[in-house]
Amino acid sequence: MDTTPDRRRNRAAAKAPTSASMGNRRPTPVFRTVTWLVIVITMSALAFYLGVWTGMKMNLPSSPRDQRTWSASSKACSCGLEDVDSSELQRRVSSLVEERLKSMDAADTANDRKTLRKGACDDIEVDTFCPKKGYVLPRSESETSGLRKTSDSSSYHLLPKSLRHFVNGIVRVSKEDFMDTFDQGVPPNPLTEGFEALIIYNKKEALPSDDAVRKRAQGEGNPSQGLPVLSANEATENCDTMNIVLTNNPSNTNQCLALVGSQYQSYHIDRWMRRKLKHGPLDAKEPLRLSTRGFTAAGKEEFFPPAEHQVHEHQKRLMTYFTVLPQLKSRLKALLAKMGTKTVVVLTSNFGQLRSLPFMKSELLINFACNSRSKGFSLNNVIVFPTDLETKELSEGMGLNTFYDEHLMASVPKREARYYGDQIFTGVMFSKVVCVQLVNELGYDVLFQDVDLVWFKDPLTYFHNESLPQFDMYFQDDGSRQERYSPLSANTGFYYVRSNSKTKHFFRHLLYSADLITAWKSHQQVLIQLLNENRSLLTLSVKVFAKELDEFPGGLHYHRKTKLMKKIMRGESSAFIFHMSWTENKFFQQMGEWHVNEKCVGREAKEITDQVPDTQSANAGPLANHCCSAEPIIKCHYRDKPSKYECPNSPFIDKKGKSFLGSTLKRCLALTTAEYLLPMTKMQSEVPSPTDDESGSEPACWLLDHRA
Ligand SMILES: *[C@@H]1O[C@H](CO)[C@@H](O)[C@H](O)[C@H]1NC(C)=O
Ligand SMILES: *[C@@H]1O[C@H](CO)[C@@H](O)[C@H](O)[C@H]1NC(C)=O
Repeated sequence: MDTTPDRRRNRAAAKAPTSASMGNRRPTPVFRTVTWLVIVITMSALAFYLGVWTGMKMNLPSSPRDQRTWSASSKACSCGLEDVDSSELQRRVSSLVEERLKSMDAADTANDRKTLRKGACDDIEVDTFCPKKGYVLPRSESETSGLRKTSDSSSYHLLPKSLRHFVNGIVRVSKEDFMDTFDQGVPPNPLTEGFEALIIYNKKEALPSDDAVRKRAQGEGNPSQGLPVLSANEATENCDTMNIVLTNNPSNTNQCLALVGSQYQSYHIDRWMRRKLKHGPLDAKEPLRLSTRGFTAAGKEEFFPPAEHQVHEHQKRLMTYFTVLPQLKSRLKALLAKMGTKTVVVLTSNFGQLRSLPFMKSELLINFACNSRSKGFSLNNVIVFPTDLETKELSEGMGLNTFYDEHLMASVPKREARYYGDQIFTGVMFSKVVCVQLVNELGYDVLFQDVDLVWFKDPLTYFHNESLPQFDMYFQDDGSRQERYSPLSANTGFYYVRSNSKTKHFFRHLLYSADLITAWKSHQQVLIQLLNENRSLLTLSVKVFAKELDEFPGGLHYHRKTKLMKKIMRGESSAFIFHMSWTENKFFQQMGEWHVNEKCVGREAKEITDQVPDTQSANAGPLANHCCSAEPIIKCHYRDKPSKYECPNSPFIDKKGKSFLGSTLKRCLALTTAEYLLPMTKMQSEVPSPTDDESGSEPACWLLDHRA
């Protein structure tokens, strides 16, 4: 780890001038620290003066050396406290004044000195030292010892004795450095560049070894230097153990963070919120009440127990599962053995086109198969778990390894019309859990993926790369930062799982808790929250790829990251896959990733051909000939969405949309070489005629931006 920048910052902090009139200084990180320190000191002082108001001024000595004389005559500077021991008060005030003088001394600026010499109370508002109503006065000597001068007569303790049972020093670390050094698997937040994290040392022995650092971390020495800034490794060199609290402020409320030491430790953060007892949003007039992590400021509760009928239905399904499990396992074991691979790519797909499950449509399964084969990928390590007979036939017809169990899947209805959406959803989600659970349980590493996904490079080469940091599970970043997905935001449509006792335990229990999936209407939400517990309890390690990583783009990037999408369209990105997430066949069609002939969309196998699939053959099945187009079927739909070619005649999808390849169009209009001309034959119905081009010039250059 390169620590130079931190060191440099340390030095900068040491040199930075400081003064009592901080307001005149330019705001720098140093400024923040010193201000903070002054605040801490001031606040401690405030604590001594209860129920007091004042606008009084006090007299200052003309130089630090005159302090003693001054302090005797400084009664006039008091806060008007009658009920507080006045000598104690004087001592505090004089300490603070001395403190400020010293920092001015350090600043060594002529101006400051002049003001000081003119001196007297004029320049210091006693107000700042005096407490506002309601602050608690420490009463005993031991409680107040914190602000006393230490024996070396020139420094003060930032940390009073009463805190030292768990705070023995504080340092700052660059947030990015800290998060990189201790990879907790959570998706990084790139918008916090330049931010720092705070490390609190519970014991003196945990402080870094460097003497100067130790002193400053404890608030000794020149306060103008502020808290030390260290690299994550330096800061933690003597930490035998470390607790990490990740905190943010969802809904941007007036949030406070309390650290309470010397308690029976908890590894959960308890959340309190002002709200009515039963429900309702944040309400400042109410008392703070213990509230779940899923209780949003708007009053929505994200986490709640499943309803009775959901539990009942789930138990029935589990009963079936346990009944058929032995034969299920042996059948699956045989199939996996035949596939002869250590890592299995697992897909599940559904024929009924449930609106809430567009990412499972069987035509997307067909597209994945056709698309992959057109690029030369072998699909021998892919296994499909259809949730209905129609999809089973399609999958087999496409020559894919297919595992279907009529008992288990029979409870998964095929067509939405005849069932309530809730039931189909539940059943399909159950299969989404079971398919990974079974393969994982049998000892295979699993790459699970929804079917709304295409490959550019074999993603397994990424996960098998030995230089990949080792985690038990890897997920794509969903991009959402709702409370219900915190702190991982794992996308459950593309993830990799190593088979080990921890992941086996996890998926078994996810299966047992699947009634929550019905209740919360989200496989992802349940999986993440259960992951949290397993991470905490079993150190199941989970890595969520940063959404800035080019390797695993998805819907998020499609709709928001134009630059990356252009790179992908040009075939120049390092992306392994593309996961549409918010599926629209149309988007795949624009992208040039659609390979399914129209006659196979939404059709059952028997409507396409009466050839019987030969499940023994390793080749593409009979449906492949009918359904797969070797060349991508490219169609324009939306001008403002990523597309392989310019779509000048298509409508905008967003009112304020901008043409995706707009600038390219203008640039290439100047070029007329054949290589830039649109291969017109590839474009279907919505192809704009060249003369319709907005600029009117001809021939238009409907090309992908491969020269940018
Ligand atoms: C493995 O990962 C490293 C680091 O990301 C990369 O440089 C290398 O090319 C990868 N190897 C393979 C075989 O993909
Ligand atoms: C792990 O998560 C599962 C749900 O997947 C939960 O039921 C189980 O209690 C958790 N186990 C541990 C040890 O955290």
